[in-house]
Amino acid sequence: MNFHILTLFPEAIDGVKHSMIKRGIDDGKITINPVHIRDFAINSRRQADDYPYGGGAGMIMRPEPIYDAYKSLNLSQAKVVFLTPSGRVFNQKIAQEFAQETDLILLCGHYEGIDQRIVDEIVTDEISIGDFVLTGGELAAMVVIDAVGRLVPDVIKPESLAHESFSDGLLEYPQYTRPYDFMGHKVPEILLSGHHGEIAKWRSEKALEATRRKRPDLLM
Ligand code: ADE
Repeated sequence: MNFHILTLFPEAIDGVKHSMIKRGIDDGKITINPVHIRDFAINSRRQADDYPYGGGAGMIMRPEPIYDAYKSLNLSQAKVVFLTPSGRVFNQKIAQEFAQETDLILLCGHYEGIDQRIVDEIVTDEISIGDFVLTGGELAAMVVIDAVGRLVPDVIKPESLAHESFSDGLLEYPQYTRPYDFMGHKVPEILLSGHHGEIAKWRSEKALEATRRKRPDLLM
């Protein structure tokens, strides 16, 4: 899976190269390719933004540098995901859809926004990571890379993905490790029973109970 990130802050994307994603990169299952939009700026001052037509505060990212950065990838069939608070709210289902792709282009906005014509021309999906406003799309792009990258085959063991939160529309059941007794709280006896069927049943019940209590909206 190749992630191409169109950004004014390519170094920011390094933050995602840890843990499982780093292993995916080291194993050749994932590539992270930040493309610096400023390298495609319109003049020697490396300008990539301009004043908004119609007036208003802040600067808007110009369409030409973004378009040229996109064209340099030569991936006309790839999805182009624009990270924006006005997009569809990202979730596990969308992560699974994106994980089917070979190349994913992530477009990070900055300043007060980007020229609408670049959105109309190249963007296939507008994605938000939640109802709040970040200073730019880079953190959101890293959220998408992390959530999608871990679903790429062989980055994480399939057993680990099978029972995690949202995989079956429910939150995850509680997990325990040693010590058996932590400050008077003991590990539930059923988990020590060696009864795999009973343990699986207990875990399903706990997953449902946790979902009812913490995220009843998932059951509607
Ligand atoms: N850019 C700024 N805020 C964002 C958000 N909430 N989600 C995705 N991209 C963003």
